[in-house]
Amino acid sequence: MNLTIFPGGPLRGCVESPGDKSLSHRVALFAALAEGESCVEHFLVSGVTEAMLRSLKALGVAWELSDDTLRVYGRGLHGLRAPESVLDCGNSATTMRLLTGAVAAAGIAAVLDGSAGLRRRPMERIAEPLRQMGVDITTAEGGGAPLTLGSRPPSRRLSALDYSLPVASAQVKTCLLLAALAADAPTTLHEPALSRDHTERMLRGMGVEVETSPELAGYRVTLTPPKTPLCPLRGMLPGDFSAAAFLMAAALITPGSELTLPGVGLNPTRTGLLDAFRAMGGDIEVSNLREYLGEPVGDLKVRFSPLRGVEIAGEWVVRMIDEFPAFAAAAVFAEGPSVVRDAQELRYKESDRIGALCSELRAVGAQVEETPDGFILQGGGVRGGVVNPHGDHRLAMSLAVVGLASREPVKVLGAEITRESFPGFPDVLRSLGAQMTEAYE
Ligand code: S3P
Repeated sequence: MNLTIFPGGPLRGCVESPGDKSLSHRVALFAALAEGESCVEHFLVSGVTEAMLRSLKALGVAWELSDDTLRVYGRGLHGLRAPESVLDCGNSATTMRLLTGAVAAAGIAAVLDGSAGLRRRPMERIAEPLRQMGVDITTAEGGGAPLTLGSRPPSRRLSALDYSLPVASAQVKTCLLLAALAADAPTTLHEPALSRDHTERMLRGMGVEVETSPELAGYRVTLTPPKTPLCPLRGMLPGDFSAAAFLMAAALITPGSELTLPGVGLNPTRTGLLDAFRAMGGDIEVSNLREYLGEPVGDLKVRFSPLRGVEIAGEWVVRMIDEFPAFAAAAVFAEGPSVVRDAQELRYKESDRIGALCSELRAVGAQVEETPDGFILQGGGVRGGVVNPHGDHRLAMSLAVVGLASREPVKVLGAEITRESFPGFPDVLRSLGAQMTEAYE
């Protein structure tokens, strides 16, 4: 589907962000490892979470989805069944990396594979430390999927680990913490910067002893293997901050706009973009702070604002790792340049987000210089044009948002990819006042 966005607006109204993607992956999987029935509302029903649910079914886990309420009948830490066929993780690296940790803990044989895009993502970053724990795991040539895990006798526990992650990564951290549930002693991980801590919060809520503390060069997390079963999960998931990010950017750049976004997850390890937009002069109010499933949540009010460029580097990058496409969509309309450094990890996301973002922003007339670990983006607005999101849901949404304030329309090819994380994204924008056409050419 090709989506053409016409400049205009204003955008006005109130819209709920879809359920958080990271948390949806975790509740489905962690609930499967609990004993008893979990029930979670506002689950994200989308391409990437379908990959997780499908794989769980293949591992013998029963679940039911009714609208966005997910019920999972937990099988306990050692209850996963060896799958009869390859676990298809689709396009979802979160599914693959998290499932691998759970499969390793269960000690069952399994093969995990996925789309051509997923096969390009680096998997040695989980395989290498898992091997140190005694897991029999191989990656394909080049270090990607398919991943093949061998079985282990039920009596043999994994070896506890003391490991420093070369890059801050919540997916790697979570994979290893899940494996550590089946280790013979506490496991300690050291991260150079604190990646999203949803796993630590959720496991603690399920009764697992997980301690975190800052240390000289980053953060440390220690998990003690539990002696009692994991408690089931019950509650409501926050709206996804990373989905709300595109609506925030849309409101900030479209003159006359004012949007209310209720129930958005505001975990401080995820909200670097809020700080970036505010540093750029963005008018964003947070109210009604509360907690859902151990995660901070609030309502956002975002108004059109003249923006100025900003420089993002260091740990700030980790706190907004998924938000550079949304950030760039606003930064092209700011006054003055925006600079991103220390963000080389972006090259290993759903696309090479530095290369792809720079080439597509250039296609709409932006002046942008690509650097090895980021980019320098001149503000002042763009012309418009035809863009290719490189099979990346966040790039597609970012480029659609650019079309709201460009001088001419922006046509996003293959825009159905937005369904991976934000089903109904074009309809939401339309309901707020955006002008667009969809074509199946
Ligand atoms: C995620 C962690 C991040 C993020 C991804 C989801 C998670 O990846 O980019 O969209 O749910 O743990 P890394 O942990 O590899 O940086």
